[in-house]
Amino acid sequence: MQKIIIAIDGHSSCGKSTMAKDLAKEIGYKYIDSGAMYRAVTLYGLQKSCFINNKLDVEALEKELPNIDIYFEIDPVSGSSQTHLNGENVEQSIRRMEVASKVSFVSEVASVRKFLVAQQQAMGAKKGIVMDGRDICTVVFPEAALKIFLTARPEVRAQRRFDELKAKQQYISLAEVLDNLNQRDLIDSTRKESPLRCAPDAIVLDNSDMSIEQQKQWLLKKFKEKTIFNN
Ligand code: DC
Repeated sequence: MQKIIIAIDGHSSCGKSTMAKDLAKEIGYKYIDSGAMYRAVTLYGLQKSCFINNKLDVEALEKELPNIDIYFEIDPVSGSSQTHLNGENVEQSIRRMEVASKVSFVSEVASVRKFLVAQQQAMGAKKGIVMDGRDICTVVFPEAALKIFLTARPEVRAQRRFDELKAKQQYISLAEVLDNLNQRDLIDSTRKESPLRCAPDAIVLDNSDMSIEQQKQWLLKKFKEKTIFNN
């Protein structure tokens, strides 16, 4: 069967990665978390002191871009995709609040987007890929055979993120999580460069009242419909 590209966009913390990962595993496709790439650049920027008084020094970060090498490796034990930055596994550190609170400032920089979009497109050159993010359906793979726009109510998303952080022993109040999420939504959808938009031909799913299994089955059905129709 001919492989396709599956592009998933949507708001922060609405379960895009879980959905994308589950599908990729089920159908034997590669999974790429494009948000992890923006987070890795942010982490690198923090390490290289590109933030002064919480403000991003865009020029300093741009100079560092050629020194940034991001790739994904599958953990042989858990089978999960691990983000690597210049040879180091940064999967845990890119999920910290310090990175989460700054990543929007990095992802609105045109040169950063150009740098990462080129790499994302190269990763999808052979198809057989599920990629999630904010501009995957609109900019990275506008020709993707299956496009999904995922969303959920902000309170539901904040609670999910809060539970996730708690499980990792990161104790941040629910109000703070909701605040960070609302801020990121606002920046993501109003920024000049590749704002978060629902592609006209994307299928919209609000998963507020769905279980992970239900959304997995929903997406699997869409995938089957698409591939049966295309092949
Ligand atoms: O999906 P995430 O929360 O890990 O993404 C981190 C940030 O990166 C988020 O604020 C939006 C940005 N992002 C983006 O601008 N474009 C993408 N394709 C993926 C993420």
